[in-house]
Amino acid sequence: MRRSIIAGNWKMHKTRRESVDFVRALDVLIGRGPKPEVLVFPPFTALADVRQAAAGTSIGLGAQNVHPEDQGAYTGEISAAMLEDCGCSHVLIGHSERRQLFGEDDELLNRKLRKICTTSLIPVLCVGEQLDEREGGRSQEVVLKQLERGCDGLTGQEISRIIVAYEPVWAIGTGKTATPEIAQEMHAAIRGWFDDRFSSNVAEGLRILYGGSVKPDNASGLMEKPDIDGALVGGASLQADSFAGIVAYDSKA
Ligand code: PGA
Repeated sequence: MRRSIIAGNWKMHKTRRESVDFVRALDVLIGRGPKPEVLVFPPFTALADVRQAAAGTSIGLGAQNVHPEDQGAYTGEISAAMLEDCGCSHVLIGHSERRQLFGEDDELLNRKLRKICTTSLIPVLCVGEQLDEREGGRSQEVVLKQLERGCDGLTGQEISRIIVAYEPVWAIGTGKTATPEIAQEMHAAIRGWFDDRFSSNVAEGLRILYGGSVKPDNASGLMEKPDIDGALVGGASLQADSFAGIVAYDSKA
């Protein structure tokens, strides 16, 4: 049984103060009872404060990006060891904004993934097709190629630690969610790829999150699909009440 995950990607939002206020408010709203795994991905500048505010709560901490080298002359970059030092347990790799706006390609993402697999951090590898690729009937080809290149050279043991987030680019921040059926179809294809490429154990254990305009009112429909194991939430993760509404998706199912 895969435990679901609700993750909030704050992107370039929130000061340290705002981040701490959010975590305190979220902790009260979601309570201490059984629920999905809850993760937030604040900007680098707020990681240490969020770690402190989240201590003793059920809110986990991740970073939005990482550099593949241990250290060196890479102005503006952050290493895996620095993220561990800030108390992160997870890190996003290859969010579509990194791919599109900052030119990150599969080869670089593969280097990041290989590095992360040597640390305690759990990578959340993001994949997804653009609108013209979907309209051209190439969605699966594009996404499976991103997996093939991104996961190149990794062992089954390394792969068993990763989380995948399927985020169709046309659904991110646009209010256009993929229907649960569209998302399920891709999630099943992703799981099938891990089954072929690695093993049925790896595929069965793999958690695949959906991302792209997830909101409190569409979360339960997505999450009831068999291959959707959670959500990576952007816009709706910025307010504690809407994020808590997604964490509580089960109560609305
Ligand atoms: P969105 O963003 O929920 O605002 O569409 C999702 C993401 O980019 O991770």
